[in-house]
Amino acid sequence: MVSLKSTHRQLTKMRDIVDEALEDFVQEKMASSQAPAMNLAREVLLAGGKRYRPVLALLAFEAAGGKEISEVMDLALSAEIIHTATLVHDDIYDSSKTRRGKPTLHASHGLAHGIIGGDYLFVLGFGLGGKYDARIVERMAETCANIASGELLQHEHIGNLATTPEDYYSIIDGKTAGPFATACSCAAIIAGASDEVINSLEEFGWEVGRAFQLVDDLLDLTGDEKMGKPRGSDVHEGKMTLPLIHALTMLHGVEREQLADILQNFSDDRWNELVSLLSLAGSFEYSEQLIENHVNRALRYLESLPDSDASKLMAEVAKRSRSRKK
Ligand code: IPE
Ligand code: IPE
Ligand code: MG
Ligand code: MG
Repeated sequence: MVSLKSTHRQLTKMRDIVDEALEDFVQEKMASSQAPAMNLAREVLLAGGKRYRPVLALLAFEAAGGKEISEVMDLALSAEIIHTATLVHDDIYDSSKTRRGKPTLHASHGLAHGIIGGDYLFVLGFGLGGKYDARIVERMAETCANIASGELLQHEHIGNLATTPEDYYSIIDGKTAGPFATACSCAAIIAGASDEVINSLEEFGWEVGRAFQLVDDLLDLTGDEKMGKPRGSDVHEGKMTLPLIHALTMLHGVEREQLADILQNFSDDRWNELVSLLSLAGSFEYSEQLIENHVNRALRYLESLPDSDASKLMAEVAKRSRSRKK
């Protein structure tokens, strides 16, 4: 039985391994003709992301029987760098001012730099993933295409009070759960795992990724400055997150009208009114229950794998994603 303390130590170690590899990668580019682009990109890349995706890639590799971690490192870095690229661009179209506790790239350097910095990170990430065989490159390409579709779908639903839970799941599967699933499944492919193991790890990734985005959307309503990005951004942007979709369905009469009015004419002084209505509708509990369901499903997929320290750590990551505060 691994103690909680040693689990924490091992996860911190995994994170440190990712951080070191990322720093080496950044240094290598800083010593090349790409120095101006990396000088810009490294601000956000090294600003202290949680590194969920690369850590899961390393763990999935080990859980799938992989031995030599250097074999999967480029994939792990690729997952983190592509993720960071999407954040840089996401912050442009979400008009976000803070990311990872710092001003967003476009806020401090302007739009052109934000676009170029994001593109640069994208190609770097793809370059790293592109070193693997076609099966992996195809999965990566499809996942990135689905991020674009998810983000577009989200934009189409801005301010649309008729958005359904199905719309919401299509959005989060594209923009968030897919990249988690691909990081895990590609790591298993690199480990030379069977189709069954690859599939279980992919499904684990989907479920953790869904839980992860549901938590992110809940934190937007309930979180604090620890998140490194301001609370309430989704409501300001008119994003239809699950608690809002749920409350719109549950409330009736004046309360439903009041909620619709708050969402359509939102200002900070209506925050408490919004939170009271969401509480009244049971929308926080509803989201928490769904998060719980996704985490439990993720854990069940892990149970189908051969027992290993790595799969235990993955279970811990899944459980932690439920109660994270940032
Ligand atoms: C933010 O991802 C975007 C979402 C998919 C919710 P993270 O919460 O993993 O952001 P970092 O990498 O830790 O900054
Ligand atoms: C995550 O969505 C964006 C991508 C994964 C591309 P959000 O817009 O919810 O993420 P935050 O809240 O800005 O971190
Ligand atoms: Mg955003
Ligand atoms: Mg968000």
